[in-house]
Amino acid sequence: MKQIYNYQNQSRIMALAGLFVIILPIFIPNLFGPLGRAFPSLFSEWNAPKPRHLSLLNGALHQHFSIKQQYELWSPLSNQGWEPCTQSINGPSLPEKSRGFIQVFLDGGLNQQRMGICDAVAVAKILNATLVIPHLEVNPVWQDSSSFTDIFDVDHFINVLRYEVSIVAKLPSEYSWYTREYYGTGIRATRIKTAPVHASSNWYLENVLPVLQSHGIAAIAPFSHRLAFDNLPDDIQRLRCKVNFQALVFVPHIQALGNTLVQRLRRPPGKLQSSQTNYLREKIEDAGKYVVLHLRFDKDMAAHSACDFGGGKAERLALAKYRQVLWQGRVLNAQFTDEMLRTQGRCPLTPEEIGLLLAALGFNNSSRLYLASHKVYGGEARISTLRTLFPLMEDKKSLASQEELARVEGKASLLAAVDYYVSMQSNIFISASPGNMHNALVAHRSYLNLKTIRPNMVLLGQLFLNKSMEWSEFQNVVFKGHKNRQGQVRLRKAKQSIYTYPAPDCMCEA
Ligand SMILES: *[C@@H]1O[C@H](CO)[C@@H](O)[C@H](O)[C@H]1NC(C)=O
Ligand SMILES: *[C@@H]1O[C@H](CO)[C@@H](O)[C@H](O)[C@H]1NC(C)=O
Ligand SMILES: *[C@@H]1O[C@H](CO)[C@@H](O)[C@H](O)[C@H]1NC(C)=O
Ligand SMILES: *[C@@H]1O[C@H](CO)[C@@H](O)[C@H](O)[C@H]1NC(C)=O
Repeated sequence: MKQIYNYQNQSRIMALAGLFVIILPIFIPNLFGPLGRAFPSLFSEWNAPKPRHLSLLNGALHQHFSIKQQYELWSPLSNQGWEPCTQSINGPSLPEKSRGFIQVFLDGGLNQQRMGICDAVAVAKILNATLVIPHLEVNPVWQDSSSFTDIFDVDHFINVLRYEVSIVAKLPSEYSWYTREYYGTGIRATRIKTAPVHASSNWYLENVLPVLQSHGIAAIAPFSHRLAFDNLPDDIQRLRCKVNFQALVFVPHIQALGNTLVQRLRRPPGKLQSSQTNYLREKIEDAGKYVVLHLRFDKDMAAHSACDFGGGKAERLALAKYRQVLWQGRVLNAQFTDEMLRTQGRCPLTPEEIGLLLAALGFNNSSRLYLASHKVYGGEARISTLRTLFPLMEDKKSLASQEELARVEGKASLLAAVDYYVSMQSNIFISASPGNMHNALVAHRSYLNLKTIRPNMVLLGQLFLNKSMEWSEFQNVVFKGHKNRQGQVRLRKAKQSIYTYPAPDCMCEA
């Protein structure tokens, strides 16, 4: 939804939102965790989110799974007959002479920028141009000014692609004034503003090549989602995946931190008393395995979904207000009732609901769970049910010291990069909400045939509406409803993103 609202209006909106920060806490405290929680008695209408599905929760806490089911849950995907293939079909080829320099400026969070980088390499290839390392814009929501070089290993990037596209970290001195500031401060002949969404390769040849020919340089901005997914040469598609899955690796300090977290997650949990030897044995069988839960449940998403999350009248009001401020009420979902939205699977799962889903799939209180999450709306109160089900739940803060986290602290893109890295190493990945991070990992893990559970939102939405459902039935239906949603290869259809579905464009039948 970050992409939905107009970029131009954003700073104004954020300023307005800033105003509300001052005004709102007076009557809607739970928007602002610490204040609300510190003085709950001041606000009688405000209640910390409580479990909404108590009887299911109770069932989940007392269930037993057969050994066979446990084994199947954690076992890797079997070979599906597909393997990565990103080698160029016609053999790698660099143009004899570059047509000029291509610059792009990328909006969005880390995973949206990642797609933009892959497209930028592809466009440079289509034009036989030299790509300048993309400039990452500061996102008004995430507020991280990290550059490409701060996040990705530039030398590796250039090196992996060196036989296919020439890439430079910096413009040569005769072009050195073509900076971000240069484009930000006036109308420039070398800036292409009109790239349509999902433009064809011909569009680039017709509209960008002439600029390159007359100026030796062209800047394309905006550039997000500006290259089509269909009707491109096979080699261009493979190149996009090669960038995504081979050329883009994180800088060494992010990989090192990621490895530290992974090692600690794989280590069997704390010392246990000898009276607990049975329990210990169970844990050691589990040792080394972990599941990553990507939970995007921030205020933005909660408000935009227009669903009811059980925080009572105060929460409903707070979210409606937030919707009004950020999107001037233009939120399609707001026209529907909560029940309609849930029936259609359009409500993000709450931490409690995702916990019940995990329990129904067979995860239990000795499963190690890594929570990849930025900020959870409602804070710890909202997460506590999930923690009851999964006491061995960890995150960056619980696994690493402040010193270890110092270089990434407060930097949304670097934190997202660490989560991406830990997610890629996990035995199982599950994302509670569709979005760029979800899609990026579904694709990357499918490319490597790694287990990835995709929640069936429609099924779950409907089940959670039924307040009289018993655990055993819920569990049964959920379990069956996710059998074919664990990483089975899905072929990309027309118009679908190659960054979500890498097969068949970038995978070959073995
Ligand atoms: C885990 O759950 C089992 C029952 O399913 C219970 O007997 C055991 O005490 C629980 N362990 C912890 C650490 O909560
Ligand atoms: C929890 O699951 C593991 C396998 O994932 C299993 O070995 C263990 O027996 C289960 N524990 C309980 C209490 O059900
Ligand atoms: C790019 O180079 C290839 C050969 O290397 C050539 O076939 C193609 O026409 C060139 N395209 C442009 C836009 O220069
Ligand atoms: C809710 O679940 C119960 C038990 O499975 C079932 O009998 C009932 O028909 C369901 N109600 C609705 C409205 O689907």
